This record gives sequence, structure tokens and C-alpha cells, in this order.
Amino acid sequence: MSIRPIASLMLGTLLSLPAGASDGGQLAADHGCMNCHGPAAKSAPGLQGLSAKLQRKGDSPEALQHLLKEMREGKTIHGHQMVSDESAIAILAWMARGSR
Ligand code: HEC
Repeated sequence: MSIRPIASLMLGTLLSLPAGASDGGQLAADHGCMNCHGPAAKSAPGLQGLSAKLQRKGDSPEALQHLLKEMREGKTIHGHQMVSDESAIAILAWMARGSR
């Protein structure tokens, strides 16, 4: 396993922030993630499918960082760009735990 020291240091700081399971759901709602990924989602992968995918990848710092990068790369999605790293990681971690 190779972890780049700086990235893992940053993530260690991010992940040590208190973020309970329900906070993730609240953050996702607050950041408009659910507008596109909610139950009525048509154009974006729904929360269930997204969670299933993230659960398969796990909630390790490396997996979450990779997902964040994937989100940022799709430049066309405003919601993916506006969210802070901290909030995005908290939401992704929540999704990776099955969105509960
Ligand atoms: C404007 C609609 C919209 C909003 C708002 C939105 N998304 Fe997305 N999201 C999409 C679409 C469309 C895709 C699939 C296409 C893609 O991956 O770029 C996607 C894909 C994803 C993926 C999968 C990335 C991958 O490549 O596996 C994740 C994770 C994700 N979104 C998380 C979030 C989070 C967290 C938020 C809130 C901060 C959010 N999205 C807000 C539309 C949206």
C-alpha cells in the first residue's frame, strides 16, 4: 500500500473532524447532492446505486480521495465543484457506509 504522505496527512486532518452518520445525510441535503442523486434522480446515479458503488470501494482515505477527484474532474457539474473538500469527504464517507 503506498500512501503519499502529504495527501494522507491532509486526509487525516479532514477525517478527524467530527462527522457522524446523520451529519453526512444532512450535508448531502445542504449541498444539493440530493437534488440530483435523490430518490427522484433521473440523469444522475441515484443514492442507492451510488452508495452501493461506494460501499464496494470502501471508506478508506484513499478511496474517498479518489472519489473526490472523480467528482472534481467532471467540470460540468456545478454541485461537484462548489462543495468544500471537507464536506465532500464527509458526504462520500457517509455514502460509503451505506448512506445511513
Ligand atoms: C447538478 C446535478 C448534480 C449535483 C448537484 C451533484 N451531482 Fe454527483 N453526479 C451527477 C451526475 C450527472 C453524475 C454522473 C456523471 C459523472 O460521474 O460525472 C454524478 C456522479 C457522482 C459521483 C460518482 C463519481 C464517479 O465517477 O464514480 C459521486 C460520488 C457524486 N456524484 C457525488 C456527489 C455529491 C457528494 C454531491 C453533493 C456535494 C453531488 N454529487 C452533487 C450530478 C450531480
